Amino acid sequence: MARIVGGLGSPHAPSVGAAVDRHEQDTPYWKPLFDGYQPMRAWLERERPDVVVLFSNDHFTSFFLDVIPTFAIGVAAEHEIADEGWGKRPLPPVPGHTDLASHLAQSVVADGFDPAICHRLPLDHGCLTPLSALFSWTPTWPVRVIPILVNVLHFPIPTPARCFKFGAAVRRAVSSYEDDLKVVVLGTGGLSHQLVGERFGHIDPVWDAEFLDRLQDDPQSLAALEHRDFIERGGSESVEVILWLCMRGALSPKVRTVHRNYYHATLTGYGQLILEDLGGAAR
Ligand code: DHB
Ligand code: FE
Repeated sequence: MARIVGGLGSPHAPSVGAAVDRHEQDTPYWKPLFDGYQPMRAWLERERPDVVVLFSNDHFTSFFLDVIPTFAIGVAAEHEIADEGWGKRPLPPVPGHTDLASHLAQSVVADGFDPAICHRLPLDHGCLTPLSALFSWTPTWPVRVIPILVNVLHFPIPTPARCFKFGAAVRRAVSSYEDDLKVVVLGTGGLSHQLVGERFGHIDPVWDAEFLDRLQDDPQSLAALEHRDFIERGGSESVEVILWLCMRGALSPKVRTVHRNYYHATLTGYGQLILEDLGGAAR
């Protein structure tokens, strides 16, 4: 039986991926963030998951205004590196897991969700930033990745409650997969940031800390909030923390934070998190 051993949270801003490519991890600007990845990399090397289910969003790379799926699952055997306009990052294609991804798709549809099933889904910074910060890819990526992209860009976007329930459906799907696989769920993006308008540059570290506390202890209370609440507290683009609610929904009610880091020197409040799953059935 496949099982979820833990949940991770990571930023996905493109500047972090660029810092990886330029080997700037130890510069004064980036060190406080990349030091926060070290315990996560060590945890992943210890746990050696077979598959990462990666909750992120497309940034008008694979989808555009003509078609925007609310939820989309990448079922390809291999995911291409997208060109976001300045050339592809120097990364090899990311291995997928077609069989588990197809099972997930089938299971969540039976469970009342209707994702787009994507046989080709080039990955942009939403997926590649966290993957390249958390894993080494030479000689090959050490893990298979199932990208699940959620529309957080263009309203109507799914409610926080819907994302939390979607995570729980993913947990039920993983638990009903026959093969013995170790799975990690990864929520990406956030935390507080606003990249447009009058509040450009808005960051609220107090809210970000409260968000991470409640994500561990009382995620239901976050799932009960409205988009407006997240936007007021954390800024317009921070609404993408509903991706972290997908991740949290895929874990047991009881989890333990074994690593947490926060850095906000840039335009975005970066949170990094490891939640160990203490077991139990899906909600
Ligand atoms: C930026 C882009 C993102 O998608 C994000 O989540 C945070 C920051 C950026 O362009 O800086
Ligand atoms: Fe983003």
